[in-house]
Amino acid sequence: MSHQLLQGKRGIIFGALDPNSIAWKTAMRVHEEGGVFVLTNAPIAMRMGQINDLAAATQSTIIHCDATSEEDLHQLVTQAVEILGGKLDFVLHSIGMSVNVRKGKAYTDENYDFTAKGWDVSALSFHKVMQTLYKQDAMNEWGSIVALTYMAAQRTFPDYNDMADNKAYLESVARSFGYFFGKEKKVRVNTISQSPTPTTAGQGVKGFDGFISYAEKMSPLGNATALDCANYTVSLFSDLTRKVTMQNLFHDGGFSNTGVSQEVIEYFSK
Ligand SMILES: NC(=O)c1ccc[n+]([C@@H]2O[C@H](COP(=O)([O-])OP(=O)(O)OC[C@H]3O[C@@H](n4cnc5c(N)ncnc54)[C@H](O)[C@@H]3O)[C@@H](O)[C@H]2O)c1
Repeated sequence: MSHQLLQGKRGIIFGALDPNSIAWKTAMRVHEEGGVFVLTNAPIAMRMGQINDLAAATQSTIIHCDATSEEDLHQLVTQAVEILGGKLDFVLHSIGMSVNVRKGKAYTDENYDFTAKGWDVSALSFHKVMQTLYKQDAMNEWGSIVALTYMAAQRTFPDYNDMADNKAYLESVARSFGYFFGKEKKVRVNTISQSPTPTTAGQGVKGFDGFISYAEKMSPLGNATALDCANYTVSLFSDLTRKVTMQNLFHDGGFSNTGVSQEVIEYFSK
């Protein structure tokens, strides 16, 4: 399925770790739609090697960048514009990590050094990415910037831990920076609030298997997969969505507006 929706567009894709990653699927779909891009990830993720296969499949260059480092981001954006031969039309921020979750710390027993690190990686990095693009005037008019988020920003999912707070911050940054990027550069900024998805980051959340099955039963259309998310992102990078900005867009098969489903009622009527 290719409509060449991104023909002639250039960008940066953050966060492809392995073939399950939402960013991996997005890179494949953007490539199929004619977009060209630089792939980037933290140095540690790149050492794990798999991103080389994606780069080969999409004829992309890889540039390592810790998204919390302003210096790395400056280098990345400078080199991406150089390699791709012009300013950028799209950027995907697909980055998340909680040290408290990784170390098994409960929300009621946070280690605040861990909290600060997770916030920097998962939330503030989105501001840093956009501030770098803004200051370097690296985005073309009518460009599109997308970050991925989760509904725990609005409603409580206890095991999502401090990532809930990070996502609330991330969504707020999209609105705030979206204003300035819209006014000054005619660039749109949105977050996609994605269904639970079996990736490295997703499966790190306690109780993920039960939770993804619950979400599947609660969503009239079923959970959105990583490929579905990639397709939605392509639409947001395309010229068909030019006036959509500063939005948190639920991409969850209807989960967020469902009070209860027939399947869940039946389960509790046994
Ligand atoms: N999987 C889900 O259930 C789900 C649901 C909603 C939203 N999301 C969001 O989607 C995004 C992508 O996650 P995923 O599910 O594809 O998992 P993933 O583990 O494949 O991707 C997370 C990425 O973040 C990268 N990263 C971590 N620290 C970094 C740093 N300092 N600098 C640069 N990159 C860094 C990792 O290397 C990895 O590539 C995240 O923002 C996640 O919160 C995931």
